[in-house]
Amino acid sequence: MTDAVMQQLEMMKLLEPAVQEKLVLLRPVAECWQPDDFLPDFSGEDWIERLTEFRDQAQGTPDELLVVLIGNTITEEALPSYQTWLNRVQGVTDETGTDMAPWAQWSRGWTAEENRHGDILNQFLYLSGRVDMRCVQATIQHLIRSGFNPEVGTDPYQSLMYVSFQERATKISHANVAGQARRGGQENLAKMCGVVAGDEARHEEAYKYFAREIFVRDPEGALIAFEALMRTKVTMPAKQMDDGECDDIFGQFTRVAQSTTVYTVSDYTSIIEHLLKQWSVPDWTGLGPEGAEAQEYLCKLAPQMRRIAERVETRMVKQPKRPFAWIYGRSA
Ligand SMILES: [Fe+2]
Ligand SMILES: [Fe+2]
Repeated sequence: MTDAVMQQLEMMKLLEPAVQEKLVLLRPVAECWQPDDFLPDFSGEDWIERLTEFRDQAQGTPDELLVVLIGNTITEEALPSYQTWLNRVQGVTDETGTDMAPWAQWSRGWTAEENRHGDILNQFLYLSGRVDMRCVQATIQHLIRSGFNPEVGTDPYQSLMYVSFQERATKISHANVAGQARRGGQENLAKMCGVVAGDEARHEEAYKYFAREIFVRDPEGALIAFEALMRTKVTMPAKQMDDGECDDIFGQFTRVAQSTTVYTVSDYTSIIEHLLKQWSVPDWTGLGPEGAEAQEYLCKLAPQMRRIAERVETRMVKQPKRPFAWIYGRSA
């Protein structure tokens, strides 16, 4: 074990009381929403009416929004890959599968909350009757089979920063789908995506807090880790998705996310700006040369990205619509 790894493991041990304290951000199961709370009740005599109402309302969701929702669902459904990854991270590893150590409790509790996200969105898609579910299901199978590599190795510093980024990104994306659905009169979808976004917000709060605790205790190491993460770019969890039809389905999904403004290049940049502020990146002093260099790089990053974002966005929205196998070849 190298000195750096030893130091990171010690840090994760030091953070245990903070993790224990933040376990309250994961709600007790009895207080949690479940997908069933938002689905038509099939147990009553009037189940056909309930189902018809639900299905009728889902006809109003524009195809573009539906494509983004499908991409988001597939991303959530690849949860086994995320739990596997989290369990590889130094200091988080749940050795027995039922460890009572704070990190192990956190990772299982987080996974258990996340598991509802894929379920609820998947059930909406199924009941809408507008989606080729077989194709979506095959895309999920492909994605889990292909895997997920956030390119942070087993480094806990970079991992906690990565997941802070992703929780905020998913919060923004689900909240924007909810907002557009609400404005379009699709209250069911709005509520479903709204509760998912609410979970992501709690997760974001916790991970940002854990990462900040690392900054407080080891600003040098934290800045170097954040720089490394930013240099490799933040790999999107569903990058490996494959619908069996399109050779760049992930690119097409991100294009529609951009054109609908559900999740944009500007959002990506604003998340970085937010994290820089959250972790007081410009303010740390008493750094060694490596830390100071990382700090300088990070401080220049956001304005640089802002300049590029506009150009990339204009190029993306100019691209023509394409047929999506997920929605029976309709274009989006
Ligand atoms: Fe999620
Ligand atoms: Fe999440």
